[in-house]
Amino acid sequence: MTGRYPFSGIPSGWYVIAASDELRPGDVVGRRYFGRDLVLYRTMSGRVATVDATCPHMGAHLEGGRVAGETLRCPFHGFEFDLDGACVRTPYAQGAPARAQLRTWRVREQDGLVLCWWDVHDKPPEWSVPELDLAGWGGLGVHRYRIASHPQETTENSIDYGHFTSVHSFPNAEMTRPVETDGPHLQSGYAITATLGAIGLPRARVRVAFEVDVWGLGYSLVNLHMAGLGLRGRLFVLPVPIDEEHIELRLASRARHPIPGLGPLLRRVVHGQFRQEVEQDIPIWEKKTYLERPALAPGDGPISEYRRWARQFYPDPSSPAPGADSSRQQRLHTP
Ligand code: FES
Ligand SMILES: [Fe+2]
Repeated sequence: MTGRYPFSGIPSGWYVIAASDELRPGDVVGRRYFGRDLVLYRTMSGRVATVDATCPHMGAHLEGGRVAGETLRCPFHGFEFDLDGACVRTPYAQGAPARAQLRTWRVREQDGLVLCWWDVHDKPPEWSVPELDLAGWGGLGVHRYRIASHPQETTENSIDYGHFTSVHSFPNAEMTRPVETDGPHLQSGYAITATLGAIGLPRARVRVAFEVDVWGLGYSLVNLHMAGLGLRGRLFVLPVPIDEEHIELRLASRARHPIPGLGPLLRRVVHGQFRQEVEQDIPIWEKKTYLERPALAPGDGPISEYRRWARQFYPDPSSPAPGADSSRQQRLHTP
């Protein structure tokens, strides 16, 4: 074991690497995820691609490149790469070298989010995150944080019922649905009785039901329902590993209410409350130690079940990372 966490490498799964709004047609942005330098771009027709940042011709960083129609043009010698990473054009007369193949990453764009598949052995995905029905739902609010933590920790938070009162001041949290798992999918549910201080009614109380819907360690959706107010919310907790000890965390949310005019206001309220609650967790995540054998007490929530389920996403520490390993990649998977 090296570093702060006892896990062997970055868990496999779909991770949200951008909200759709972060990439307009023609945008080329550099990002560091999965311990690698990547470049994300959107073609002029609107398709999103993620590629290794290093140009296979002579190593330029492609963040300085630009989109030319449906290709990405390197800033150094102007070679152009298509969405499959093939070099399809050079400024020279003799055509493109077959060996100039740019590594591409599997991406899907759905529900206003760009998801990227990570697997250290480059195994193709055997599951996907289901698309959501957006009818009646308002726009997506998104905030991004860079924090010293791990997807294992941020995802665990959704079923760590023991901290709801002490950190978030949720009164009387009760589990309404025990944890159920099915492959990469985990579900659970709980309910609280909350005050409505966020909308200026500190003495009013309302029951709030939460259904937790987790797909891998990169995508947690908490469905919120305040039946008394007719309000539904979708709260997305979306960590993506920068490296083994840091994540970029996106919080995204949508709201739905039968009175359409209330939508934008309620979305702001729901998103603001959501941010406030996660911002209470962040300093704890940044400093906490991940205990493999925690001293669990009755009332702690289904921590053990969650951890057993989460193991499936980790690479087998006995099989080394394949291919021409960079020293960085080697380090990522050395237990
Ligand atoms: S380094 Fe990219 S085209 Fe030469
Ligand atoms: Fe929390």
